[in-house]
Amino acid sequence: MSTINNPVLEAIANRRTTRGFADTPLTQEQLDALMAAATASPSAINLQSWHFTFCSEQAAIIELEQEVNRLIMSGSDEGAKQRMMARNGKAFYNAPTVIFISSDAQSVWSALDAGIAAENLALAAYSMGLGSVIIGMCKRAFEGENGAVFAEKLHFPEGHKFSLAVAVGVPTVTKEAHPVGDNKITVM
Ligand SMILES: Cc1cc2nc3c(=O)[nH]c(=O)nc-3n(C[C@H](O)[C@H](O)[C@H](O)COP(=O)(O)O)c2cc1C
Repeated sequence: MSTINNPVLEAIANRRTTRGFADTPLTQEQLDALMAAATASPSAINLQSWHFTFCSEQAAIIELEQEVNRLIMSGSDEGAKQRMMARNGKAFYNAPTVIFISSDAQSVWSALDAGIAAENLALAAYSMGLGSVIIGMCKRAFEGENGAVFAEKLHFPEGHKFSLAVAVGVPTVTKEAHPVGDNKITVM
């Protein structure tokens, strides 16, 4: 148990995944802060292998959500089906803005770069009183038969593939901290 406290440690400790958002758009100020946080992320050899698509167009988000639903419900991944049904068919939870992180397909570290940027976004959202959820589930839509169409609609640069999404908005739900697994740290 650490006795040190500061705003960064507080944000790390208290950020939670948010799976419910108010119908409230993000302000330009909030969007600007999120863009700054995303692009400030560290990346391997500073290649900045990512591209961030800040999408607040509900029609585009819903169209993608429906495709994710269709692919999961017609597929054989029973766990994914259960999760989808438990979440009432929501992949993006009515978030006003979803940030899609696409990555240079040639970069070996791009998945890690994207993950680090996703956490920067989540912590930045928390610091502004917003909720966020990192989303991998929608990857299926980009790997399905209409993947290229969605990538184009979301302006992924040439040669980029989907890595992760982060949905951000005013939270309407709260959640407990996840239980920490056993034996996750070794001190030598
Ligand atoms: C790479 C990654 C992918 C994730 N994908 C999803 C997702 O598709 N849908 C979802 O609701 N949550 C997703 N999550 C959120 C995790 O379920 C969540 O972080 C975990 O349950 C721990 O809860 P906490 O974030 O509140 O600590 C993802 C998290 C990570 C890091």
